[in-house]
Amino acid sequence: MKFTAITVGALAGAAAVSAESFCDKYSTALFNSTDGAQQLTLLTLVVNSALIGNYSNATSANAPVKPTGILTANGTFNGVNNINLLKYFDGSLLSTNRNGKAVSLNFLDGGGATPLKQNKAANDTKSNQHMLITHLYSYFGSLLGCSSVGKNGFPAYAGSTSQYDVHRFMNLNSAELGYFIQEVAYSAVSFGVSMEDIAPVGQALGTFFNNKCGAPLAVPSSASPAVQSVCLDPTCPVAGNSTCTASNSGTNGTDPAAAPGSSSSSGSGASGSGTTASSAGKVASGVAGALIAGAALAIATLI
Ligand code: HEM
Ligand SMILES: *[C@@H]1O[C@H](CO)[C@@H](O)[C@H](O)[C@H]1NC(C)=O
Ligand SMILES: *[C@@H]1O[C@H](CO)[C@@H](O)[C@H](O)[C@H]1NC(C)=O
Ligand SMILES: *[C@@H]1O[C@H](CO)[C@@H](O)[C@H](O)[C@H]1NC(C)=O
Ligand SMILES: *[C@@H]1O[C@H](CO)[C@@H](O)[C@H](O)[C@H]1NC(C)=O
Ligand SMILES: *[C@@H]1O[C@H](CO)[C@@H](O)[C@H](O)[C@H]1NC(C)=O
Ligand SMILES: *[C@@H]1O[C@H](CO)[C@@H](O)[C@H](O)[C@H]1NC(C)=O
Ligand SMILES: *[C@@H]1O[C@H](CO)[C@@H](O)[C@H](O)[C@H]1NC(C)=O
Repeated sequence: MKFTAITVGALAGAAAVSAESFCDKYSTALFNSTDGAQQLTLLTLVVNSALIGNYSNATSANAPVKPTGILTANGTFNGVNNINLLKYFDGSLLSTNRNGKAVSLNFLDGGGATPLKQNKAANDTKSNQHMLITHLYSYFGSLLGCSSVGKNGFPAYAGSTSQYDVHRFMNLNSAELGYFIQEVAYSAVSFGVSMEDIAPVGQALGTFFNNKCGAPLAVPSSASPAVQSVCLDPTCPVAGNSTCTASNSGTNGTDPAAAPGSSSSSGSGASGSGTTASSAGKVASGVAGALIAGAALAIATLI
């Protein structure tokens, strides 16, 4: 658990050097405030843009990168094209865990992209969309060290504290995880976060979630230890210091089936699998490479 404390600390304190967290640093820079309402606005902008791509005129016009959006059906990460994460959100697959069963749930049932573009989670408070997206605001707010999560109108995280449990039927691969993390990083950068500050965040997200068979970790650090591995396809790297068992390996390679009545052909992470495995092994290139390289340095310095 010592390792966890170090990496959680690295993530929350990613603004480094000073004791100020990543979130507090940037809510001050953007809104001159660390109040809950402003920090919730910051997380709303970052999460919504990561999901649907740049939409906000709060972004900096000269940002070196901007997100294309997790919900676009055609993402690119590290040379892998046509990454489709939308199919896990739109109910087309039996990929959602409800009471240990793989079921189909539509997470875009609160108006989809339209309310997201209006800086809202959903057009209501009852939808799956509202639940998921408000949870993402609070979860990422905690991970990024927002001092006002749980205060002043920024609700504490109320979802699962095992990301393995949440994602275990999706059989996600490294390119899918890489794309998701890239979009979160690009979104932050589009709001003026520096590459230097985002690199350790990307690295820590990779360490926690972009692997399979992880040992239980407490994330956020106030939670009880639980498995956090989200990359569960057989080509995903095994988490450092861990062993694969039936209870941390997801479906161990079985892609989620199409939901009955859905036009989706399959849940095939598998179609991309071959490509993914080899490209994941390649040295990362471009901005993603810079983020990863910078992160390795930052982590090495911290340890
Ligand atoms: C850095 C990696 C990731 C993190 C930290 C993360 C985090 C989360 C969190 C906090 C939730 C809400 C859980 C709850 O409400 O109890 C969630 C749900 C979800 N995530 Fe992820 N996620 C990651 C990667 C991915 C990827 C790559 C996908 C692929 C499409 C994905 C798809 C989903 C879906 C569909 C849900 C809704 C599941 C449900 O409510 O059961 N996530 N994620
Ligand atoms: C930032 O907030 C402080 C107090 O909350 C205020 O005194 C200061 O004038 C504000 N600065 C700007 C640039 O708005
Ligand atoms: C963008 O900026 C303009 C002018 O500052 C403002 O009127 C408008 O509401 C903003 N749009 C969004 C979506 O925030
Ligand atoms: C993001 O989108 C907004 C609204 O369309 C636009 O004003 C802004 O220039 C865009 N930012 C970037 C970095 O493309
Ligand atoms: C997906 O993106 C790639 C690369 O950006 C592009 O070549 C291709 O035409 C796109 N496909 C679709 C269906 O949009
Ligand atoms: C919210 O969006 C859903 C899905 O698009 C739609 O069925 C519903 O009527 C909308 N509700 C409101 C209050 O706009
Ligand atoms: C690896 O596992 C051992 C035994 O559980 C533990 O003592 C050690 O701290 C772990 N190392 C890391 C880096 O997690
Ligand atoms: C996962 O599948 C592989 C290959 O089919 C098999 O060798 C391994 O024992 C399985 N692991 C678990 C935990 O079921």
